Amino acid sequence: MARVEASAEGVEEWDEAAPRPKALVESLRSFGYSPETAIADLLDNSISAGASEMVLHFEWAGSDSHLAIVDDGRGMDEATLLEAMRPGSISPLSTRAASDLGRFGLGLKTASFAQARELTVITRDASGQAHVRRWDLDLVGTSGQWRLLRLPSAQAAPYLSQVTRTGGTAVVWSKCDRLVGDVEHDPERAADRFYAVVDQVRTHLGATFHRFLAGRGARSIRVNDVAVQPWDPILKHPATHLVTTEKLPFRGTRVEVKAYVLPHRSKLSEQQQQAGAGIRGWNAQQGFYVYRNKRLVVSGDWLGVGGAKDEHTKLGRITIDFDSELDLDWQIDVKKSTDPRQVLEGAAGSHRTRRAAGRGLRRPGDRDAGRAGRRRRQVGRDARRRGAGGQGAALHGAAARLRAGCHLRYPAAGGGRATAIPAS
Ligand SMILES: Nc1ncnc2c1ncn2[C@@H]1O[C@H](COP(=O)(O)OP(=O)(O)O)[C@@H](O)[C@H]1O
Ligand SMILES: [Mg+2]
Repeated sequence: MARVEASAEGVEEWDEAAPRPKALVESLRSFGYSPETAIADLLDNSISAGASEMVLHFEWAGSDSHLAIVDDGRGMDEATLLEAMRPGSISPLSTRAASDLGRFGLGLKTASFAQARELTVITRDASGQAHVRRWDLDLVGTSGQWRLLRLPSAQAAPYLSQVTRTGGTAVVWSKCDRLVGDVEHDPERAADRFYAVVDQVRTHLGATFHRFLAGRGARSIRVNDVAVQPWDPILKHPATHLVTTEKLPFRGTRVEVKAYVLPHRSKLSEQQQQAGAGIRGWNAQQGFYVYRNKRLVVSGDWLGVGGAKDEHTKLGRITIDFDSELDLDWQIDVKKSTDPRQVLEGAAGSHRTRRAAGRGLRRPGDRDAGRAGRRRRQVGRDARRRGAGGQGAALHGAAARLRAGCHLRYPAAGGGRATAIPAS
């Protein structure tokens, strides 16, 4: 039905075309989250809310299975909870605190709906009052209204007394259709799949949040009573070699790039070798590791600037650290995966470089060292010729120096003989 509105600019005619809840709900479910990336998004919220302990509880009960994530963060008052449950509550264009791992005001909803048709949030505010809200997508579909319910699901109800007692927030998924799969047809297989997901989640969280899980002020994450172990892609080992460090001022913040060659297997114990291999194995884990506010968003990918994942660079890993303020430049998408290639092509900002390459790789009288120097200078010239003074050139440069570093330390493709060059 056409409507007409008169304003200072004249008369405007318009139709109201509000999204149909049933259809929109289905698209909200389709952001491409896997169970582990969805859960990592919920833990971002817990960490942003100052939680130090996060407990995940997966319970298999066929189609009544549920997942609860209980944190000891600062919780929410009722108004905040209401906004938190509203899809698209905070503009992605607003500035976030440096510790905030959120972005689009969507994560809680889209991550949850990707796996479950029902989402209950139970939280306690600073005054000790508990609040509950629940989305049931089946009801949104049948009623055609965004009806946010005030009672928990049957699966979430037991967490109310816990949150009331201890504070924090519990996020509970029920009607977990995508986590549970085809339970009617083959319940045993469905249960196996469910528990396989539990293991995947534990491993994924160990990598994604490794910087939060170790060191001073470490948080703890438990998944079905097993503590998540941090997995640092840069193996702490005397033979881990820092090839280059770059600090790039960029739009008032700083991007830090560090390239490492990890120790050859001849220097590692069986256990260290396994630890270093990560989830996907040595070869697949080479490349860039991008961190946004200390949280890993890309894990072992050359991002189109480092060439192929081949044997002779399989020990090469480069960390990139940036703040959430750079989200728009780094094309952070809703799942917090990122594609810095956009930046690589366009960015032009001043940059200052400090290189450890020469120091680490050159030894007096070392034939290789002369080659390292020449190679390094060539890399610099190449980067300058490409004309980008910003991150693009820097990442290309870091990748190229890392390749040179891998080659010099382990000249035979695939590792071979380890050279006598001392670790930096
Ligand atoms: N576990 C939690 N503890 C406290 N507040 C939370 C929690 N989860 C979500 N919130 C609140 O809900 C809001 C919306 O979360 P979300 O949909 O993930 O979007 P974003 O993280 O991008 O802000 C958050 O900004 C925060 O205020
Ligand atoms: Mg979030």
